Amino acid sequence: MKLPVTTVIDQDLCNGCGLCVVICPCRTLSMIDGKAVVTGDRSLQCDHCAAICPTGAITVHGVHKYALELKTVTNSNEWLPYGSFDISSLVQLMRSRRSCRKFSDQPVERTVLEDLVKIGITAPSGSNCQLWTFTILSNRSSVESLGEATGRFFTRINKMAEKSFLRFFSDLFMKDALGRYYREYYESIKEGLREWKEKGTDRLFHGAPAAILIGMRPGASTPCEDALLATQNILLGAHAMGLGSCLIGFVVEAMKRDPTIKARIGISREEHIYAVIALGYSEEKYRKQAGRKKIVPRYYEG
Ligand SMILES: Cc1cc2nc3c(=O)[nH]c(=O)nc-3n(C[C@H](O)[C@H](O)[C@H](O)COP(=O)(O)O)c2cc1C
Repeated sequence: MKLPVTTVIDQDLCNGCGLCVVICPCRTLSMIDGKAVVTGDRSLQCDHCAAICPTGAITVHGVHKYALELKTVTNSNEWLPYGSFDISSLVQLMRSRRSCRKFSDQPVERTVLEDLVKIGITAPSGSNCQLWTFTILSNRSSVESLGEATGRFFTRINKMAEKSFLRFFSDLFMKDALGRYYREYYESIKEGLREWKEKGTDRLFHGAPAAILIGMRPGASTPCEDALLATQNILLGAHAMGLGSCLIGFVVEAMKRDPTIKARIGISREEHIYAVIALGYSEEKYRKQAGRKKIVPRYYEG
């Protein structure tokens, strides 16, 4: 994806230090007669040149300060030098985030959800394309409606999986996709659908009063990675802002296979949804951080 060059350098303010020329990943800038000038026709619009300029001579017009303006939390827009953040707080935050499966009814303010989107888009993206989309479901009834559409999808899949001849054909022609579904998910989904119908228990969204769907518009070189990086930012940001969160993979799967679900909430066919995050105030309180399986990293020092 090629982005236009929107960099403008104020020649009166430029002190000729050349830092912007060195930092530019696209070699868009050059030094001419002791001043930085735009000479290239490629840009990532990454804003690195403006961020490194000591005199404020550079503006990248493709970049908006919008993402820096949070409404519900005070934050510094100062750049943190390497190593100057309290790593133990960061790790504690990462380890304290848990998938929440019991949300309270308390609604989540729109401004909080919008701030989470801004926290999401601080993530890197392939070629800085930033082709993310964020669909905010800001109340319980919209979350329930998406849950019901997902429930209808899985009711259909369960009906198919019940039929042994369809599982047989799936084994022959679809790498046993239906058979694997039957063995791994059929029973628990049947139970979840039954509980929803009979008791109104929401085992899909866990009673969340809000959700954010993270998608990508066409054209990104690394859409899945971009979307999931923004997603992790939102999960961590949510915890720090007092919210519980849970990724809901079943809804992602349903939206992938049944485009009418996307259409219901105004998402176009071309847009792909990579993550659905249930959000709300958590009713769960832990006494300690959870462990993880042991991972032994591999070294290559050839
Ligand atoms: C891609 C993905 C999809 C997930 N989908 C669901 C889901 O549909 N429902 C759910 O309750 N949890 C879901 N989870 C949450 C995982 O079960 C959870 O992350 C895992 O058990 C580890 O727990 P933790 O998030 O509390 O650390 C999903 C997680 C990921 C990464």
